[in-house]
Amino acid sequence: MMKKYHMSSFAFNAALSTLLFTISALAASADDWSKRSIYQLVTDRFALGNGSRPSCDTSEKKYCGGNWQGIISQLDYIQEMGFDAIWISPVVENVEGTPSSGDAYHGYWAQDITSLNAHFGNSDDLKNLSSALHARGMYLMVDVVVNHLVAIPTNPSGVWPETFNYSLLQPFGGSDSFHPQCFISDYSNQTNVEQCWLGDASIPLLDIDTENSTVVDIMYNWIKNIVSDYDIDGLRVDTVKHVRQDFWPDFALNAGVYTVGEVFIGNVSYVAPYTRGLDSVLDYPTYFAVYNAFNNGTSGNMSAIADVVTQAQYEYNHGTFYVGSFVENQDNPRLQSTVSDQSIVKNFITWPFINDGIPILYYGQEQGYQGGNDPANREALWLSGFSIDNKPLLTHVKSLNSARKQAISYNSSFLTTKASFIPQSSVSTLAISKPPMLTLLSNGGNSSNATWNIPSSAGLYGGNKTLVDVLTCDTVTTGSDGSLNLTASNGLPKVLMPSEAFNASGSLCTIEAEGPSSLPVKSNGSFRTVVHAGAEILAAIMWASLIAFVPGTMLL
Ligand SMILES: *[C@@H]1O[C@H](CO)[C@@H](O)[C@H](O)[C@H]1NC(C)=O
Ligand SMILES: *[C@@H]1O[C@H](CO)[C@@H](O)[C@H](O)[C@H]1NC(C)=O
Ligand SMILES: *[C@@H]1O[C@H](CO)[C@@H](O)[C@H](O)[C@H]1NC(C)=O
Ligand SMILES: *[C@@H]1O[C@H](CO)[C@@H](O)[C@H](O)[C@H]1NC(C)=O
Ligand SMILES: *[C@@H]1O[C@H](CO)[C@@H](O)[C@H](O)[C@H]1NC(C)=O
Ligand SMILES: *[C@@H]1O[C@H](CO)[C@@H](O)[C@H](O)[C@H]1NC(C)=O
Ligand SMILES: *[C@@H]1O[C@H](CO)[C@@H](O)[C@H](O)[C@H]1NC(C)=O
Ligand SMILES: *[C@@H]1O[C@H](CO)[C@@H](O)[C@H](O)[C@H]1NC(C)=O
Ligand SMILES: *[C@@H]1O[C@H](CO)[C@@H](O)[C@H](O)[C@H]1NC(C)=O
Ligand SMILES: *[C@@H]1O[C@H](CO)[C@@H](O)[C@H](O)[C@H]1NC(C)=O
Ligand SMILES: *[C@@H]1O[C@H](CO)[C@@H](O)[C@H](O)[C@H]1NC(C)=O
Ligand SMILES: *[C@@H]1O[C@H](CO)[C@@H](O)[C@H](O)[C@H]1NC(C)=O
Repeated sequence: MMKKYHMSSFAFNAALSTLLFTISALAASADDWSKRSIYQLVTDRFALGNGSRPSCDTSEKKYCGGNWQGIISQLDYIQEMGFDAIWISPVVENVEGTPSSGDAYHGYWAQDITSLNAHFGNSDDLKNLSSALHARGMYLMVDVVVNHLVAIPTNPSGVWPETFNYSLLQPFGGSDSFHPQCFISDYSNQTNVEQCWLGDASIPLLDIDTENSTVVDIMYNWIKNIVSDYDIDGLRVDTVKHVRQDFWPDFALNAGVYTVGEVFIGNVSYVAPYTRGLDSVLDYPTYFAVYNAFNNGTSGNMSAIADVVTQAQYEYNHGTFYVGSFVENQDNPRLQSTVSDQSIVKNFITWPFINDGIPILYYGQEQGYQGGNDPANREALWLSGFSIDNKPLLTHVKSLNSARKQAISYNSSFLTTKASFIPQSSVSTLAISKPPMLTLLSNGGNSSNATWNIPSSAGLYGGNKTLVDVLTCDTVTTGSDGSLNLTASNGLPKVLMPSEAFNASGSLCTIEAEGPSSLPVKSNGSFRTVVHAGAEILAAIMWASLIAFVPGTMLL
């Protein structure tokens, strides 16, 4: 794979002198991130530093109290699931309260990008979060917004044009750093999309004039400094399609770390050019296909997923290897707001972990949260008590993270081998091969007997091969010709890997003879089922396996 050097010669001198004195300034590249697995959280809704667990009514759209110290206090919870990176909400100062739209608890209404959001902590707290993550070998991804700042209109609503106290909008302080006021009215006119404003009369998102070279330099410097000040490892970039495409390459160079952009649209060809300016994108086109496939019962079309992914692999720069692969986030309804069948939910959650992209799990999914559209999908995680007991989805996620790490450690080509699809006779099933992993999904739910057929012509495994389903530790054997015909049990997904891909230090399905003999585990054939062990034991095993799996990825 092509190694990408992000550092511009401009940034180089400063960075070099830093490197001479500290080795903690190693910037994390897209390649570094491709081995990772990301837990996305809404800072205000994850945890409070003082450990209190106040009520939090999402419909009120108010700050509920989560902060950076709270995240530090719950890193065990995140790491135990196998995540080695987190994505947090935007960190800069936002508008305070609004007449009708609630608080900026989500962080997307920046007012002064030179200051931090005091609701989340101070600069020491953010630095502490960064260093606490790095001490665990984890990465910090920060969400940033470049397209706009936000101001509350100073004249009565309905009056046009609106007036603002521009001195609040730092570091600019004047209207000449913004595009003239007009709300986006024509999504087929890209100039309109880029230069007119998002938002509405009560929360106008003032569109930063990224055609003005002074403004551009300010933004490039800002990103360089914030990455370095807080030792940030990666950036999630908001509203990328609302800024001209040729703004992004130098933005990424100045950031000097992995950048993944939000281009909120289902059209692969529209999204593709942005994978040339930033390292990659959040893979919205695939998200829509996956969501529709699992949100429509058996009339959901799983082969549409294969179509979109194949197109994205072809059109995106670096294929889909560096995309952020997700199925839920803060802007879309959780699947469980409409689907209660847990087999369908498990199939859905499996997707991000078994394809080419970097897996992202939106906080709360592991706890079975069911919030619909914004703001309902931003529930307080502390209301779950951070419980890991009797949480089947959390266990499922843990297994998927382990499986991905195990696939990488068994054969590092896993990261550079494109996922491919083995055609199935039903649009309710999907078979995805990403050697050494074979994943079988279906959308029929817990009473379905979906079947998958892998013909010998697919050439995946040899004849008479033992494969282990990492989700159950059950084994299956290929026919003497290498073919495989399987039926789902209770509509559950299967994630298969050849038995030789498992090793004694792994956290899942360890080989009986080499398994830790004192553990009360059940056997399936010659494999031990440790994924069904008690939660405490499981946690201990996860710790051991994290240490065993990822030493090479620790930041020095
Ligand atoms: C905990 O922190 C929250 C948010 O800062 C605050 O409202 C609350 O009073 C604190 N509770 C305790 C017990 O200190
Ligand atoms: C947090 O930052 C402060 C100030 O830099 C420092 O004194 C403290 O030791 C840090 N705490 C942790 C847990 O890193
Ligand atoms: C505008 O904001 C500045 C900075 O906070 C403040 O000093 C000033 O009073 C505000 N002006 C008006 C008209 O509200
Ligand atoms: C460009 O932005 C700078 C800095 O914000 C501002 O001073 C200047 O007036 C702007 N130029 C134009 C032509 O608007
Ligand atoms: C596209 O939008 C821009 C900005 O609003 C506008 O100036 C231009 O006239 C529009 N072009 C067309 C063809 O409508
Ligand atoms: C998808 O985007 C491309 C590139 O912008 C555009 O040409 C095409 O018309 C779009 N397709 C649809 C269905 O909107
Ligand atoms: C599936 O559901 C989505 C909404 O999630 C809807 O837009 C789409 O048309 C549905 N597709 C099918 C094939 O039912
Ligand atoms: C499913 O999607 C594929 C690919 O987009 C399409 O060719 C096919 O006609 C669809 N099938 C059904 C039953 O909707
Ligand atoms: C690793 O994966 C690559 C690509 O699938 C394959 O060509 C190679 O044989 C695999 N190596 C081993 C040891 O399985
Ligand atoms: C699934 O298989 C079981 C056992 O063979 C059978 O009883 C059941 O009717 C089947 N369900 C469907 C939906 O085909
Ligand atoms: C698989 O096993 C069968 C029956 O034991 C044997 O005849 C065949 O040669 C084996 N095939 C391979 C590829 O090992
Ligand atoms: C799987 O099904 C195909 C088609 O029916 C058949 O040719 C093949 O032998 C079967 N393989 C196994 C291992 O049963």
